[in-house]
Amino acid sequence: MTASPRIDLDRLLGRLDAFNRIGALPGGGNCRLALSDEDRAGRDLLVRWMRDLGLTVTIDAIGNIFGVRRGRENLPPVMFGSHIDTVGTGGRYDGLYGVLAGLEACQALDDAGRITRRPLALVAFTNEEGSRFPPYAMGSLVYVGGLALEDAYAVRGIDGATVGEELRRIGYAGDARPGFLKPHAYLELHIEQGPVLENEGRAVGAVEGITGLRWMEVSITGRSAHAGTTPMDLRHDAGYAAGEIAVFVRRVAREMAGQQKGTVGRIELYPNLVNVVAERAVLTVDLRNIDNEPLQQAERKLADFLDRLAAQEQIVIATRSLARFDPVAFPNEMVSLVETTAQELGFACRRLPSGAGHDAQMMARLCPASMIFVPSAGGLSHNVREYTAPEHLHAGASVLLNAVLRLAD
Ligand code: GLV
Ligand code: MN
Ligand code: MN
Repeated sequence: MTASPRIDLDRLLGRLDAFNRIGALPGGGNCRLALSDEDRAGRDLLVRWMRDLGLTVTIDAIGNIFGVRRGRENLPPVMFGSHIDTVGTGGRYDGLYGVLAGLEACQALDDAGRITRRPLALVAFTNEEGSRFPPYAMGSLVYVGGLALEDAYAVRGIDGATVGEELRRIGYAGDARPGFLKPHAYLELHIEQGPVLENEGRAVGAVEGITGLRWMEVSITGRSAHAGTTPMDLRHDAGYAAGEIAVFVRRVAREMAGQQKGTVGRIELYPNLVNVVAERAVLTVDLRNIDNEPLQQAERKLADFLDRLAAQEQIVIATRSLARFDPVAFPNEMVSLVETTAQELGFACRRLPSGAGHDAQMMARLCPASMIFVPSAGGLSHNVREYTAPEHLHAGASVLLNAVLRLAD
């Protein structure tokens, strides 16, 4: 008889602490932007930990890292994991928690002397955040064939480097063909990054689907001029136009209410000087909705507004799409699996959609997929103060372990 496998919370917390020394920011939080030196150090540590557990490590051509634990039968594996990169001012849990909880699940199975029927495949996908190189979830998108490898390699980041150059530089352009393992199912454990579970006092969320999203770069060309001598009605001010767009994006999202979100997260002005009317501005727009129809409506409203603004200010406004994904609904049997597993373990659980993008949304194109959420204190994420209580980390990891066992046996 083998013992039933159990998550060792202290071991999971220990690995989170050790890993988060990489790219630690003063005051808390982490910066491990995709394909940076910090990302490489994190990858090296993860690969070492995977090998310590006897997992067979494979790196594919977009740098996704897989650690496979053998099963009793040579069947398609149950895959689980997330990402280890962060935004520039990221927290300690976004992505990393799902990967390290997956590692802990493998070790819990070792401790219990348990070999599953199907193999298990723990994965850390490349560049989930997309902060440095758009789009987000690049590694999983390439993996499922939604973006050609060559096109991904050619993406230029905010610092001018390309994905291909940086992957080779850090030594993670692997030999395996993306998509080489076709999973039986994919499960991703992640922090909620929003306030719903905490507000309702639930430990676990069963994720029904993922928001649709548009990322856009807007480039404005006006005319630089003297800030003191140029009459206000003779200006073609790219800085003013950028400000108007930011205000419009927020207003549209608020007017559409419900699930519509709108963010201008990045604005650059040229020449960016106190006494020069800006000649050029480049900004990003992030529009999201869990329904496609209102998302398309928001996109149309923005396009009309940009046309009017360009005409009114006699400036040129050009747009470039950085990402466009339709909303994704996960299959009911996968959502139910998460829900039932959580309930059987005694955790209060509810179904909810995700307003954040995730690798699971891409993997859903390849196999049945879903996600497990745990609460985020204050709903805070993409913030160095991101926090999830140890009891919730334990709950999520336990649900992952047990749901994986069901899928694998
Ligand atoms: C990806 O992590 C996103 O939702 O921005
Ligand atoms: Mn994430
Ligand atoms: Mn994130």
